[in-house]
Amino acid sequence: MSGGVAADASALLLEAIDVVRTYRLGRDVEVPALRGVSFQVDHGDYVAIVGSSGSGKSTLLNLLGVLDRPTSGQVRYDGRDVRELPDAELARLRNQRIGFVFQSFHLLPRLTAVDNVILPLVYRPGTKRERRERAEAALAAVGLADRMAHRPGELSGGQQQRVAIARALVTEPALVLADEPTGNLDTTTGEDIMALLESIQAEQDTALVVITHEPEIAHRAARTIVLRDGVIADGSSP
Ligand SMILES: Nc1ncnc2c1ncn2[C@@H]1O[C@H](COP(=O)(O)OP(=O)(O)OP(=O)(O)O)[C@@H](O)[C@H]1O
Ligand SMILES: [Mg+2]
Repeated sequence: MSGGVAADASALLLEAIDVVRTYRLGRDVEVPALRGVSFQVDHGDYVAIVGSSGSGKSTLLNLLGVLDRPTSGQVRYDGRDVRELPDAELARLRNQRIGFVFQSFHLLPRLTAVDNVILPLVYRPGTKRERRERAEAALAAVGLADRMAHRPGELSGGQQQRVAIARALVTEPALVLADEPTGNLDTTTGEDIMALLESIQAEQDTALVVITHEPEIAHRAARTIVLRDGVIADGSSP
């Protein structure tokens, strides 16, 4: 863990400053996906991102997750511009401090539930057995103690998303980024998944940033950011 986290529990975690992301198609075509987006996420925050298809939501989430780099502007974690971090630290940020949950689960089909959850722990010190025990505890915490040895194809959609959540949380990240985590689930299962994410956000002081099309989910967040054509149309400040 990085120093001073407990003392800064209510402080700024991450900041986007005038972030621009332009995709380049071939030589001549430029697609301006984000055109200057600024906002802040505190430790333990709960932010919903909404906006119509193509408004730049996933592009923004990928930038916040350091899976992609802005064309211009800054993404800052703990006060540091991610462009200034050496590769090893970037990898550590991605692997240890940020958890991802996607609409289509993104589990590895050939691995069992517990082996999927162990994956983010491979960079961790400790024995193989300790990693397995941690993964088992994470699966138990999402209600899957009796499904450890199942492969994704042997699980329901809601169960697969629980495995993905266990995988996102097993490193005890400061931030969970979720891109339409209930998009492939029926309403009841989707509500269970959101309740699970929200309980983790509340109990572990994990910041949660969730993209959603569903107004009911957006209403549950502490605040909502509305993206329109690559800019924030509403809700940039808390
Ligand atoms: N890799 C890419 N190359 C070129 N253009 C892209 C790429 N990814 C996204 N875009 C374009 O950038 C814009 C924003 O895309 P993005 O995926 O962020 O939208 P979104 O808000 O997540 O939409 P949805 O709700 O449909 O998931 C869109 O116009 C899209 O066509
Ligand atoms: Mg998207």
